[in-house]
Amino acid sequence: MLALGIDIGGSGIKGAVVDTECGSLVSDRMRVPTPRDLSPEALAGILHNLFSDLDWKKGPVGIGFPGVIRGNTIFTAANLDKRLVGLNLEEVLDGLGSAPVRVLNDADAAGFAEMEFGAGLPYRKQGTVLLLTVGTGIGTVMFVDGVLVPNLELGHVEFNGAEAEHLVSERTRKHEDLSWKRWAKRFSGYLEYLERLLNPDVIILGGGGVSKVGKFEKHLSIQTPWVMANNGNRAGIIGAALAAASRAG
Ligand code: BGC
Repeated sequence: MLALGIDIGGSGIKGAVVDTECGSLVSDRMRVPTPRDLSPEALAGILHNLFSDLDWKKGPVGIGFPGVIRGNTIFTAANLDKRLVGLNLEEVLDGLGSAPVRVLNDADAAGFAEMEFGAGLPYRKQGTVLLLTVGTGIGTVMFVDGVLVPNLELGHVEFNGAEAEHLVSERTRKHEDLSWKRWAKRFSGYLEYLERLLNPDVIILGGGGVSKVGKFEKHLSIQTPWVMANNGNRAGIIGAALAAASRAG
């Protein structure tokens, strides 16, 4: 089945048409920089343009958003404009003729892509998988025996006296000009904290902030086996499309 996958992020809003049988993109990957003031109207305009650029007139649409999602409504937006809280994205797309619409947390979407076509495959039926996305924020996802625990949001727990994502996100590494070693030691401490809390069978690391694995891997001192995500910067798009297609049946 073909489905449109959209990934709303702190620095870019990306979209592509996905073949959900094999998890590949069958259109160009479009990207619009996220405006600093992303009002509901601005977001609606960007989504409408994506539909027309990709010539998407009907069929499932999945949208990953960096916040807590219930139904198709945004409940939190830690790193985006707070005016988006309360917005129902299905209603925003109303009139474009597409259905069904499925809105979900962006990290949950990336998790679906990894469980279906990536590093999570061996744990699809059994095991506890913890996946982290490192970018503007920290996304956390857990699958238990193949079932998603949605909206986990462990990037916001208190760690070493601060909100975890304020210490270990890619944005913080750049903002504080941390060396890879310093950042990696912090990150490793955070992963150790999460492994004590959740005892996963495997930790999967994804997101742009960990793409240079060679720079930090030797500083990670966790007990749990860890692997890199396979779907790179397409995971959010692919996973959102998969989630929408599964709803389409
Ligand atoms: C948000 C999460 C999101 C993560 C990664 C956090 O700030 O609260 O919902 O998954 O950033 O984008």
